This record gives sequence, C-alpha cells and structure tokens, in this order.
Amino acid sequence: MKKVLVTGGLGYIGSHTVVALQEAGFEVLVIDDLSNAELEVVERIEKITGILPHFEQIDLREKKSVTDFFDRNKMDGIIHFAASKAVGESVENPLLYYENNLNTLIYLLQQCDSHKITNFIFSSSCTVYGEPDNLPVTENAPIKLALSPYGNTKQISEEIIFDSCAASALQSISLRYFNPIGAHESAEIGELPIGTPQNLVPFITQTAAGLRDELSVFGDDYPTKDGSCIRDYVHVVDLANAHVVALQRLFSEENLLNYEVFNLGTGKGNSVLEVVHAFEKVTGEKLNYKIVGRRHGDVVSVYADTTKANEILGWKTQRTMEEALASAWKWEKKLRGS
Ligand code: WQD
Repeated sequence: MKKVLVTGGLGYIGSHTVVALQEAGFEVLVIDDLSNAELEVVERIEKITGILPHFEQIDLREKKSVTDFFDRNKMDGIIHFAASKAVGESVENPLLYYENNLNTLIYLLQQCDSHKITNFIFSSSCTVYGEPDNLPVTENAPIKLALSPYGNTKQISEEIIFDSCAASALQSISLRYFNPIGAHESAEIGELPIGTPQNLVPFITQTAAGLRDELSVFGDDYPTKDGSCIRDYVHVVDLANAHVVALQRLFSEENLLNYEVFNLGTGKGNSVLEVVHAFEKVTGEKLNYKIVGRRHGDVVSVYADTTKANEILGWKTQRTMEEALASAWKWEKKLRGS
C-alpha cells in the first residue's frame, strides 16, 4: 500500500482529498498546524472512511520539525496544501505569506531530495492568471502580475517546483483550482471559515442560516451578463478526486513531462447573482442580499478551459454547481445543529 503525506490535510480541500485517497486504497499521513483547521476533522474523516489517518500537528516553518518527521516516516508521495490563503490578509501581511507559503515549500522539497521522494502534487490556483486576456483560460495563458502577495506566492511556488524538477529526479503536478465550493455528502467535513467568511458560498450559507444579516454582492456594474463577476465554481469532492488521479499519474509514470500543470474547473462560468439565485432555487431559502461597491482586486471573469484536464489528465467534473450548493447548505445546517 503506497503511503502519501498530505500537508494541510485537515483543511477544506485537504480533508476531502484525504477521504478520496483512503477510499482509493492509499495509506495517508496528515500534517496540519491547525491554524486554519480543527483537530476533530481527523475523527470525522475516520467516520466517513473507517480509517483513522496518522496525524501530526507540525508547523512546517520549523525546519527541524520537518526533517524530524521525514526521518521518522517513509512515504511514496506528497500532496502539499498547507499554506495561508486569504487574499486580503496577504495584502496586509505579505511577509507572513512569503514565509509561510514559500519557506515551507522549500523545506518540503529539500526533504523530497534527501529522502528520494519523487512524487509531488502542488495545490495551486487560477489566481496565477490574474485577469485573463482570453476565456476560457488555458494552462498556456500568460502568468499575469499577481494581484496579491497570496497570488504571488502561488506563482513563485510553481517556479520553485519547476526548477526543482529540472535539477533533480522530482516529478510534480501543479493543480490550478478555480473556485472550490460544497462539502462531502455525509456533511461530516466541509468549509470551516474562521471569523467572517471571505468567500462567496460560505457567506451565502451563513446568511441563509441567520448568522449574517445579509450578503453583500460586490458590484453589479461589471461588463458581464448581469453585471456581477463570473467564476468557475467546482465541487470540492470533484476537486479532491483530481488529486488522486494526478498522484496515480505520477506513480504510474504516465506524466509526459517532469513538471505538469492542469486547470481544475468545470469549464463553465457563473455570475455571483446566478449563484445566489441557484442557491435559493436549490434550497428553497430566500437569501437576503444587497448590491454594494466593487471589491478591490476582483477579476471580472475567469473560468477554466478544461480540455487538458479532461483529455490528458483524464479527469472531468461529475457534479453540478447546484449539487455543490445543496451540499454546502446541508453542511451549514449540520454545523448549526439543525
Ligand atoms: C467570488 C465572487 C466576489 C464574497 C478567492 C481566491 C482564490 C481562491 C478562492 C484560495 C467574487 C464575490 C464574494 C462576498 C461577493 N482562494 N463575493 N460577496 O475571490 O474568486 O477567489 O477564493 O485559493 O485564490 O482569489 O473567490 O469566493 O472570494 O469571490 O459578492 O461576500 O464572489 O466579488 O466576484 P475569489 P470569492
């Protein structure tokens, strides 16, 4: 049984990926510093799969702790999620983001080198494209000047991995997520925003649950079908499954290059207002919202060209945005004990 390390494995996408890996027959080791995740997620993963992942609370910025973990644990591959990911916070505190997102990656790659681990999946983001010139956006689209330190850390991380692959036996795949939404059908795991949600869907579900008075829609004067911004909302379970497919690609040496990149999206763009109305339709809940000014740094429209992921990676989304919204609502209600 191959052993896989998942860093940030108790986080939103990480925990769903741990479930998918266990269900695919991998033994999973999880590292998380619990800065943006809850320890009880370990038990919730076990409740879904019947397998308790090996978990260690480690701050990957502590190089000694990282080397110690690798000295004690043998693994065949790594999926690296652990990173700070709040766009706004990264603008206020860039050095925290450069330290946490880049130093940790470097320490992990150094361990891959010293422990001959050659399979590395990286959690990247469509944010590397900035405002694309053409839509849908392909993996060959130019990498634009990052709109935030967070986005810049994703761009720099991809370059660090690319150079490491060129200089060593490392084989890696970067997965560029569009907008992950939804939760596992069991409602045992899902998005757990700390404080006020920055992202659209958790803010919608908290508003519908009565935790927030109303949703602010950041602008309806954009050059889009209804004036609100367009994104590619992808079910988190589909996203998790893509990581298993990508890792199996490396294990079976099907990768065409030692460094590959894939967009993970549905290929469909939906506006903010379409998401709001779809949520109301799917749940029967009336959503209280108001149109306010634009949010600084928002791109007008971004959605994926999924040709490469579908035809080369061999992965395609199976779930609709409506199913994702329904699962997000089920998760929110479970969180609130209803
Ligand atoms: C989506 C749309 C908002 C909240 C970010 C990161 C990206 C990834 C996903 C980490 C936008 C609008 C939102 C609200 C709103 N994160 N919105 N009211 O900004 O596309 O992507 O999160 O990997 O890297 O950049 O996602 O959910 O914040 O916003 O109107 O209360 O919803 O303006 O148009 P975004 P989002």
